[in-house]
Amino acid sequence: MNQLAVIYWSGTGNTEAMAQAVAEGARSAGADVKLLSADMASASDFESCDKFALGCPAMGDEVLEDSVFEPLYLSMLPMLCGKPAVLFGSYGWGDGQWMRDWKQRAESDGLILCADPLIVNEAPDEAALANCRSLGAALAEH
Ligand SMILES: Cc1cc2nc3c(=O)[nH]c(=O)nc-3n(C[C@H](O)[C@H](O)[C@H](O)COP(=O)(O)O)c2cc1C
Repeated sequence: MNQLAVIYWSGTGNTEAMAQAVAEGARSAGADVKLLSADMASASDFESCDKFALGCPAMGDEVLEDSVFEPLYLSMLPMLCGKPAVLFGSYGWGDGQWMRDWKQRAESDGLILCADPLIVNEAPDEAALANCRSLGAALAEH
């Protein structure tokens, strides 16, 4: 136990850059971090983890990416329930509705969200990356 998982899906690299910064912040706060793209992961990869940072951009029409991330998220729900978690992701032309919906859903799925979700318009700049590092540190210290 005592591993922190950073799990993300990213089509064009924006959420991936956020994920790397979240992992960096968590590591600098002392966490043992497992950073994995959803394409390369299955729920069993995270059995040793007890904290979760989940990243997915706004896709479709204000929803999570539905072919890889959504199925992984659903398969992980039994292990996510009751665990500290944070949500993050990048968006484009919308206003963040996908994340408001995901937050509400995650809370009703039983995740313990220990910080407000972090959203970034398109590619994260230096200030956004600093916020990602702080989010990772907040989860590690929770
Ligand atoms: C198929 C597709 C659907 C998208 N749907 C939305 C959307 O509903 N709302 C929004 O704000 N941005 C939407 N976007 C924009 C992406 O969320 C945005 O470009 C984001 O930075 C992509 O992150 P990534 O580089 O991690 O893939 C969509 C992009 C694509 C390619």
